[in-house]
Amino acid sequence: MANRELLSASQRCMYMLMGCFLAITLTDSMLQVSGSTTSAAACFSGLFIFGDSLVETGNAAVAFPARFNKTTQQAALSGFGKAAVLAGTGVRFSDVGDFTARALGLSPPSAYLNRNQSSQLSTGTNFAVGGSTVLDDYPTGSLSDPNFLLTRTPFNLETQIQWWRDLKSQVNFKATDGQLPPVNESLHFVLMGATDYLLQYSSNFSQHQVLASVPFIVNRIAKSLEELHVYGAQTVVAVNLPPLGCTSAFLSMFPGNSEDYDAYGCLKTVNTAILRHNQKLFRAVSRLQRTYKSMSSFVYADFYKSTYDIVENPEQFGYDKAALLKACCGVGETYNFSQTSTCGGTWVSDDGVEDQVPACGYPSSRLTWDGFHFSESVARTAVMNFFQEKHVQPANGLVPNYCKPNFASFQQDDAVVPETEP
Ligand SMILES: *[C@@H]1O[C@H](CO)[C@@H](O)[C@H](O)[C@H]1NC(C)=O
Ligand SMILES: *[C@@H]1O[C@H](CO)[C@@H](O)[C@H](O)[C@H]1NC(C)=O
Ligand SMILES: *[C@@H]1O[C@H](CO)[C@@H](O)[C@H](O)[C@H]1NC(C)=O
Ligand SMILES: *[C@@H]1O[C@H](CO)[C@@H](O)[C@H](O)[C@H]1NC(C)=O
Ligand SMILES: *[C@@H]1O[C@H](CO)[C@@H](O)[C@H](O)[C@H]1NC(C)=O
Repeated sequence: MANRELLSASQRCMYMLMGCFLAITLTDSMLQVSGSTTSAAACFSGLFIFGDSLVETGNAAVAFPARFNKTTQQAALSGFGKAAVLAGTGVRFSDVGDFTARALGLSPPSAYLNRNQSSQLSTGTNFAVGGSTVLDDYPTGSLSDPNFLLTRTPFNLETQIQWWRDLKSQVNFKATDGQLPPVNESLHFVLMGATDYLLQYSSNFSQHQVLASVPFIVNRIAKSLEELHVYGAQTVVAVNLPPLGCTSAFLSMFPGNSEDYDAYGCLKTVNTAILRHNQKLFRAVSRLQRTYKSMSSFVYADFYKSTYDIVENPEQFGYDKAALLKACCGVGETYNFSQTSTCGGTWVSDDGVEDQVPACGYPSSRLTWDGFHFSESVARTAVMNFFQEKHVQPANGLVPNYCKPNFASFQQDDAVVPETEP
């Protein structure tokens, strides 16, 4: 097939939401669903996810239909979890949770606020909401920013843990009832904090202020991780923050002088704060590992390293080095990102024509999809790493007792022919 045809075909899909990816993924998704009951090789019988948009699968659009307007954001959100979107689990900002579910042989986790049948809970659920923060004390203006990329939602980590506790007390959580998987045999996946740092930088906090906030953010996360243990979780994975200083959104919103960029073009200040956060989180998780040694397993997963590996060696991972840091879906100089014309919205071209913000033909050539949220291939790589004992501590944390993760449906969901840049 000619490159041209491929580009236009996937671009069409982008706007139709449903469509061409069905043919590629349906067989595997069906196999996944029919094999979703716990088998001898299954690692965990359920999956519960807590976080912000980096792991969310549709809660924000349910909670705030006008702000996360389904119609206008459709194109933006269709970049993620195409197989899952087709399976009816809704618009989303991320497919990290879908890949995690696939690795576990489970069907994609429903969005907690979007479920309407208890059967949708039988393999767990996703509590993550786009725009959620660990801490609450941010400028009130940040709550009402009309730009959804900078929108904060009021469902912090504590609230999400409370939802989990409420849910456990409301439904009978024996696996045999098909209601909720036993939490002691489920994986609890926590990835939050990115929105906290985005809000601080976009509120013009100084680097000193941002660094000073790190202990507060991490301590609150650590408290939540411990709470999960106290209320019955036995496996809790704390995922660290990815290099936000390499995302098109941060790069275009917070530009620096030449000395502010590392050898790969990422923002050093932002990544310094993120690394500080990660280091502190690692120590907190290590403490929990020691404290609850025989009772619970706490796992640290290094999303930063998994993603930064790609930044250091884009070609080795099949990315386009020249376009790596440009958003796939977006308009704007240098990084293909503009705060006023984000993916899913419209823009006015030089000749005055208003049109949908365009997307590139091969999302997996880029680090991010829409500037802020990582492309599907970054998510796929991270989850494969974690389930293959790479960038995870302890190494077998996600594959206890020699269970076998399931990578059968991990093939590329989007076109596999690299795009030629215009
Ligand atoms: C979404 O936005 C479109 C166009 O701006 C509008 O017509 C529609 O009513 C909105 N839908 C919701 C649920 O707010
Ligand atoms: C809720 O249930 C109805 C009927 O079973 C179904 O058509 C609809 O898609 C479901 N909605 C969600 C969000 O799952
Ligand atoms: C989980 O809890 C149930 C009910 O208390 C118990 O029967 C089961 O053995 C526990 N599983 C593990 C792995 O501890
Ligand atoms: C942050 O600083 C920029 C540049 O000085 C300014 O345009 C913007 O309004 C400021 N934002 C806030 C939230 O103060
Ligand atoms: C941004 O992406 C669109 C779609 O791929 C493309 O048409 C445009 O040329 C890109 N702009 C830049 C500066 O990369």
